[in-house]
Amino acid sequence: MQRSLGSTGIMVNPIGLGGMPMSIVGRPDATQSHGVIHAAIDGGMDFIDTADVYCMNHEDIGHNERLIAEALTQHPRGGEVVVATKGGLERPNGQWTRNGHPDHLTSACEASLKALRTDCITLYQLHAPDPEVPFAESMGALQRLQEAGKIAHVGLSNVSVEQIQEAQSLVEVVSVQNRCNIIDRSAFSDGVVAYCEAQQIAFLPYCPVGGRGQKEALGSHPLLTEIASRFDVSPQQVALAWLLKQSPVMIPIPGASKVTNAISSAQAQNLALGLGALMELNQAFPTELSDTGR
Ligand SMILES: NC(=O)c1ccc[n+]([C@@H]2O[C@H](COP(=O)([O-])OP(=O)(O)OC[C@H]3O[C@@H](n4cnc5c(N)ncnc54)[C@H](OP(=O)(O)O)[C@@H]3O)[C@@H](O)[C@H]2O)c1
Repeated sequence: MQRSLGSTGIMVNPIGLGGMPMSIVGRPDATQSHGVIHAAIDGGMDFIDTADVYCMNHEDIGHNERLIAEALTQHPRGGEVVVATKGGLERPNGQWTRNGHPDHLTSACEASLKALRTDCITLYQLHAPDPEVPFAESMGALQRLQEAGKIAHVGLSNVSVEQIQEAQSLVEVVSVQNRCNIIDRSAFSDGVVAYCEAQQIAFLPYCPVGGRGQKEALGSHPLLTEIASRFDVSPQQVALAWLLKQSPVMIPIPGASKVTNAISSAQAQNLALGLGALMELNQAFPTELSDTGR
């Protein structure tokens, strides 16, 4: 069943596609990436997460956005796909740095509009707060972009509950994207998932199958592997199905650079784990709020 993208009224498939692995180090060629995006759409996905900085370095800014825009024009249902992008980071010499200055956000958004071949971005997310720039100034830039009709909805990423609340005093926040998976459950313990659920803000867990740093640990976890074999699925599909059960506002965005992984992630929404398996997982991977998250 589809899920609501926060208060936007837009309904999307419960699992979206993360675009990052198709544009950073180790990326495949464009033909393979187009195949990944088309396989995701054929598998029912209709939401893609990207960012201007999903690229190799400063000269390559917008690589992932251009790739997605091109792939969507080649698919008969490409026009129905919701694309969410982000601004607020930079890639000097391939490093990842923050830049939340209003001028940067404004010009980054203009570049994303071009790269995505659109005159209004459905969901524009602040990639991360910049400690060098007052948060309200960064949010003010997004507010003005929204008023100018360049972006329809505003989202946040890499934020705390306090930062979400500060942003909400300036704009309507429809989504929050923080790192979250069955192994890294800090978004539960710090209260962000619970806050998003209470506010009907979509929570987009990134690295939902472990990301580069934890994908091996997740894919070979004994309990996930055992439950996966019971249901004749993969540990990654178990991890995605578990995430979906944690909150109705949860919309995981697993990344893929291989067609098989995009298909597998798209199919995870159909996995009904059943009460027994869910109880086993919840016991092994508790999601309580920590004292600091209350
Ligand atoms: N806001 C932020 O700061 C931030 C940070 C990181 C990521 N993100 C976003 O979140 C998305 C997801 O994060 P991520 O791509 O870093 O990590 P991820 O979703 O955990 O995926 C990591 C890798 O796991 C593999 N994989 C994915 N689905 C699989 C499946 N069903 N079965 C087996 N293997 C599977 C893919 O490998 P292959 O590449 O080999 O197919 C993928 O590259 C990104 O693409 C990006 O859009 C946002």
